[in-house]
Amino acid sequence: MCGIFAYLNYDVSRERRYILEVLFNGLRRLEYRGYDSAGISIDSSSVTGSVNASSDSPLVFRQEGNIESLVKCVYQEVAATDLNLEASFSIHAGIAHTRWATHGEPAPRNSHPQSSGAGNDFLVVHNGVITNYEVLKQSLLRHGYTFESETDTEVIPKLAKFVFDKANEEGEQTVTFTEVVLEVMRHLEGAYALIFKSRHYPNELIACKRGSPLLLGVKEFAEQQNNGTSYNDMKFISTNGHPKELFLSSDPHALVEHTKKVLVIEDSEVVHIKDGGVTIVKFDQGKGKDGKSISRPASVQRALSILEMEVEQINKGKYEHYMQKEIHEQPESLTTTMRGRLIRGGSSNRKSVLLGGLKDHLKTIRRSRRIVFIGCGTSYNAALAARTILEELSGIPVTMEIASDLLDRQAPVYRDDTIIFVSQSGETADTLNALEYSLSNGALCVGITNTVGSAIARNTHCGVHINAGSEIGVASTKAYTSQIVVMAMVALAIGADTISTKPRREAIIESLLELPGKVKQVLKLDEEMKDLAKSLISEQSLLMFGRGYNYATALEGALKVKEVALMHSEGILAGEMKHGPLALVDEHLPIVVIATRDQCFSKQQSVIQQLKARKGRLIVMCSEGDGTAVCGSSCRVIEVPLVVDCLQPVVNIVPLQLLAYHLTVLRGYNVDQPRNLAKSVTTE
Ligand code: F6R
Repeated sequence: MCGIFAYLNYDVSRERRYILEVLFNGLRRLEYRGYDSAGISIDSSSVTGSVNASSDSPLVFRQEGNIESLVKCVYQEVAATDLNLEASFSIHAGIAHTRWATHGEPAPRNSHPQSSGAGNDFLVVHNGVITNYEVLKQSLLRHGYTFESETDTEVIPKLAKFVFDKANEEGEQTVTFTEVVLEVMRHLEGAYALIFKSRHYPNELIACKRGSPLLLGVKEFAEQQNNGTSYNDMKFISTNGHPKELFLSSDPHALVEHTKKVLVIEDSEVVHIKDGGVTIVKFDQGKGKDGKSISRPASVQRALSILEMEVEQINKGKYEHYMQKEIHEQPESLTTTMRGRLIRGGSSNRKSVLLGGLKDHLKTIRRSRRIVFIGCGTSYNAALAARTILEELSGIPVTMEIASDLLDRQAPVYRDDTIIFVSQSGETADTLNALEYSLSNGALCVGITNTVGSAIARNTHCGVHINAGSEIGVASTKAYTSQIVVMAMVALAIGADTISTKPRREAIIESLLELPGKVKQVLKLDEEMKDLAKSLISEQSLLMFGRGYNYATALEGALKVKEVALMHSEGILAGEMKHGPLALVDEHLPIVVIATRDQCFSKQQSVIQQLKARKGRLIVMCSEGDGTAVCGSSCRVIEVPLVVDCLQPVVNIVPLQLLAYHLTVLRGYNVDQPRNLAKSVTTE
């Protein structure tokens, strides 16, 4: 949901063309976070040598549409204005933004960078939402400012200009960029990651955040740092050496091709890049002389971390789309999810699960009165798929909450609850708000995320990373299957001290070990699913009936079809069929019925009979070899390999992911950029 990026070169000469391409590539990597408009700002002076761009007004380019539309627009304008692409900058600070509209339609005026006004004294790129922007806007209007956009962001550069001008009027000639931004932050409410560029502070950048993610990437140092100190240990305050190139980004995807050395910027931190050096200050809440709460900036020292990500992970490789790649890499992502966590051995060939991030909290979890799963969208569906096995192995009631609904209801959360937050990105605003709410109610909070260092990973008491690798396709696929596997392992770990369930637990562990192979097998249905997609290409609607473990499969299959193929699709609990949905059934409406073998199998057989009696147009997913027995010759069959019941949703979702993928391509829609959606929903 909106991506922000910045590139600052220092002590290394770069041509304007190179700078533009770095900014564009950064945006391409972040495009999955929002793709309805984009913009950049670079310096105008075409200066050679070490002279900086001084106080010339920075150039701003903003364009509706995807990144390639922006690229085209920039090069057209460059050609029209004779801007020299070969002009060399020994220092240059550029900023960039890709947008998912929240306030104001996609249009150049609503795109970022947002400006303080003529002359671009202050420019800002923003990810998040400023909740008190109306109040700030009214106040700035009273001070004579005019607004060009409908965005919440525009108040920020205008407020910066107001603060800067006021300080100068009062004779504070030396007001620093950090001081300006600290004062602006004091007035902002909401969630944000911001990057500031200013004509008054040429070649400097400021980044700050509260709630939304932001990373600093550091590449190559001009000289070796403090004799013998490795870069890993380097503190950023009082650096001797200067990084030659610095990057700021909403997420690591835009950094990894440049550097793996990153600093995860934390909430309330202000990062000031000047002369190649980086200083960080943090608001420190304290009491003023009058006893009132004030924010005092305090300096921060933190070591760089090393990104565990390879460039190959963020490329499409041999695939045409990220979603396709991520569906097909599930045998590998599942293997990585389980790596080092399933223990088989000893004289008794004991099988167990080891989840390092949870082991110190298992006793508390076992004593919980209730376990609550909280998530949104696909993450919620994954939790639903795992609910039954968690209930079975823990013996604790497990309830489900959609994050936004929990908050809307202000539902009761107790101190003796264990709340499990499931989120691929670890940044989803609704889930984060539910986490904050649960923490304030004293519950034990467990995070299950795919993003190391994400807000959910950092703010929960304990948790498990799903280690599925980067998921770039906006439609979640491999994260879903890895989430189910992790939650099955959580259930195994919680239930590990119950002797009566040992055989069951061991059977699940055996099946987990075979799971990547079974998923590989089910991926062979690719062509068959393409063929099925061809037969459904012009349909208006597709229903999916599931129950038990596979109610979640029906919901998730339908979510995939609607979000990427833009076809109405609904997942229906088959047990509810007679209570309403049966009225929709006729010979035209296609219906997927999931009827693989488990304790609900005979009930699903009866559902199939009832649907057939109403001439239903059925596509039945069943276990290998069951096709004819389950539905005779009158319906289309998808046969999938059988695994232990609680893991069957992992296998069963794969053909439906493939179906959604092929339907989308055949219907001519953009698989990786579904209409109106974006990855990581960081606004409420
Ligand atoms: C659907 C999808 C969304 C996300 C939801 C939660 O394919 O991706 O429904 O699952 O926005 O996102 P995370 O898991 O990042 O919290």
